[in-house]
Amino acid sequence: MTLEFSSEAFKKFQETVSRYPKKEAAMIPVLYLAQREFGYLSPEAIEYVAKLMDLSSARVYGVVTFYTMLNMQPVGKYHIQVCRTLPCALVGAEKIAALVKSKLGIQVGETTPDGKFTLSEVECLASCGTGPMMQINDDYYENLTQEKVEEILKSLK
Ligand code: FES
Repeated sequence: MTLEFSSEAFKKFQETVSRYPKKEAAMIPVLYLAQREFGYLSPEAIEYVAKLMDLSSARVYGVVTFYTMLNMQPVGKYHIQVCRTLPCALVGAEKIAALVKSKLGIQVGETTPDGKFTLSEVECLASCGTGPMMQINDDYYENLTQEKVEEILKSLK
């Protein structure tokens, strides 16, 4: 089956592109939309976006591989992204990642066997004053402590 946006997503695509002077400038929001729509950015999804954007697949692929928020592999229901950049590292990011790893029994880049959680380490998420922090799907969790992380993981069904 060929990959295609739903009519709702296509409408959103058109709205998004119309907000930019050049189609290409809308690449990140369009890729994000495609990721939501298709779950992750497979080679087929990249090709589809390239076609919509009148760009080469190689150009789109280059953008996808640059940004950690864009996934080329399927991720779990909850994608946990722990910031590892210096300001967060100085206040214990490594311990937070280690705790998540031990609680979930996975390493960075892995997904739990039930498909529920994927763990990534990412660069600065622009919340440096409230580290250590992590993003799970669209939500930020800040000023993390061991207790907070345990509570958060427990709350995710
Ligand atoms: S360094 Fe972690 S959010 Fe900026």
